[in-house]
Amino acid sequence: MPYETLLYEKRGGIAYITINRPEKLNALNRQVMDELSACLEGIRHDAEVRVAILTGAGEKAFAAGADLSELAVQTPLQGKETSRRGQRLLDAIENLGKPVIAAVNGYALGGGCELAMACTLRLAADNARFGQPEVKLGIIPGYAGTQRLPRLVGKGRALELILTGEPISAQEAYRIGLVNQVVARQELIPACETMARKIMANAPLAVRFAMEAVNHGCEMTAAEGQFLEATLFGLCCTTEDMKEGTRAFLEKRPARFSGK
Ligand code: COA
Repeated sequence: MPYETLLYEKRGGIAYITINRPEKLNALNRQVMDELSACLEGIRHDAEVRVAILTGAGEKAFAAGADLSELAVQTPLQGKETSRRGQRLLDAIENLGKPVIAAVNGYALGGGCELAMACTLRLAADNARFGQPEVKLGIIPGYAGTQRLPRLVGKGRALELILTGEPISAQEAYRIGLVNQVVARQELIPACETMARKIMANAPLAVRFAMEAVNHGCEMTAAEGQFLEATLFGLCCTTEDMKEGTRAFLEKRPARFSGK
């Protein structure tokens, strides 16, 4: 499907989504959000896609936040709707059933940082900068940044970022656990592909259930999370991939997973 604000391609089981408004530092306007939503629904139902890599066009930005020219004129009701719509899209990314790797190639500010946080994993180029500058604009993070950031880096660090609005470097983001890896700019997509291939070598349903256990388990009590884990573990035991994976180990050969 052709998009006006996204580039999309598929290669070797990986979907590559690029937000393509480099002249506006890939700011997330309504059209970008709608097209991302449609693109992700396509990926959800596309059996050929095992992992998605999300990045921004150009050399400067992953995404410099929600589009401020749209935000500036919003009524309170529209502001709430914008926030809810963004939250739904980011939830859809988190719960896509397939890993989404954010390749953060520059600024990831405001909604851009929130978008990266909704992804399963985050790899950053060494020029990347992360931040939640909303309070400098008289607003607060509205795409679940106040919820995901403390879950990722702890409440104290999240509050520092959200209340000062000051950006941090890729190295600092790595130090506090906001990103999984920092690499040189030219290594960013290859590093994401290496990560994707490691995941793709594993049993697809097990990968999916593991993500469900972590994502939903994080929102439950420990006892409920353990019950969910045991249930999904049991479900894994019904799969052909479980039989293949365990048999291949015992036969000292690589497993050939079918995703069934
Ligand atoms: N929404 C809309 N447009 C944006 C934008 C955003 N969030 N961020 C950048 N842009 C636009 C700029 O208005 C500018 O457009 P123009 O050339 O038509 O004037 C273009 O992108 C380039 O940005 P510019 O500010 O000139 O680049 P810079 O290198 O000097 O600064 C930033 C980069 C990221 C520091 C700066 O753009 C910035 O602070 N952006 C806003 C970040 C933010 O507050 N995001 C949270 C929103 S909730």
